[in-house]
Amino acid sequence: MKKVIINGKEYKAEEGTPLKDILIELGMEFPCGGTGRCGKCRIKAKDVQPTEKDRKFLSDSAIEEGWRIACDKIADDYELECKLTDAVKRRELGACNIIVSIGVKEIKIGIADDEIAEEVTVVNPLYDGNGISGICENYDKNGKAQTKLLRAVLAKESIELFEKYGKAKSETFAVAANGIFLKILTGIKLDEKDIDFNAISDGHNFDLPTEEVYFLPCVGDYIGGDILGETVNCGDNTIIIDCEELFVAVSIGKDNNEAVAMWDMSYDEVGLKAVRAVVKLLRKEGFTPFVRLYGEYAEKVEKIIAGEGLEYSFYEKKLSNPAKVLGGLRYRAKLNKEKSVTSEINVLNSEEFHKYFAE
Ligand code: FES
Repeated sequence: MKKVIINGKEYKAEEGTPLKDILIELGMEFPCGGTGRCGKCRIKAKDVQPTEKDRKFLSDSAIEEGWRIACDKIADDYELECKLTDAVKRRELGACNIIVSIGVKEIKIGIADDEIAEEVTVVNPLYDGNGISGICENYDKNGKAQTKLLRAVLAKESIELFEKYGKAKSETFAVAANGIFLKILTGIKLDEKDIDFNAISDGHNFDLPTEEVYFLPCVGDYIGGDILGETVNCGDNTIIIDCEELFVAVSIGKDNNEAVAMWDMSYDEVGLKAVRAVVKLLRKEGFTPFVRLYGEYAEKVEKIIAGEGLEYSFYEKKLSNPAKVLGGLRYRAKLNKEKSVTSEINVLNSEEFHKYFAE
């Protein structure tokens, strides 16, 4: 997966995606249809190697300044600036909901009626390179400012989406995140336990442009609604593993789900040993689960899963899954059920984990 930053915002693209496809979606115009004949689809992208087409349409000094034409480029890990117009036809929204998924490094924000119409990914302003522990430390020291910062980013990005779709505010604002981020967002101290966030959302002012805030269930501090939302789409006999700095694995059993979280994970030799121990811990005797791998470090974990003789496949966490929460009460009930039957395993207190780790 590639990450291209366009006008300061990050967009993910499958390897080999033409940059043009992304820019058209965003509202950039390609006068000759992107066939490389007009030279008008100019972008500023210093890090992109000039191509023959660039040299055909642009002077040496323009190339030196970073100008390129866009239509012969492939999306990759680089940054660019371009001019977008509002001429793109955005679909008319039947209702207006904002869906948010907060990860350690990035936040996804989408606007939706029955399904997501558009989503953006922004950097999590709380992330300072020191993992989830750093985020907690900063919040302990400087709580109010961190809460304000997080709310401000959510509000700003939502308002930009409203502007594009001609809306003033959203009816519902659904947030999927782990307990730490929900505490920061709602301004609750980190050491408070067993909070029902939805019970405090009514009548509470979170400085968000919405009538109602809805928090997806989470288990404890580290297992969030974003990953629990994914479990709803899986059958029993599945382990889902989210391979980020905050590592989460959930095993979906018939009557009970078990979940493990490890924070500030490094996927070095020791970290991967811990991952192997978690897989063994969740894999009960006679249980041959299918493994769904998510996240930035999924490829590092792949070898372990293959080594255990398990079948697996890679996925991407989808904002549309939390969005489905708004689709109906039945789904809400199901997600709440997923929550209530998910038990958290503390690996530090688990003898089995330590036994597998030492193997
Ligand atoms: S759109 Fe004409 S050259 Fe790119």
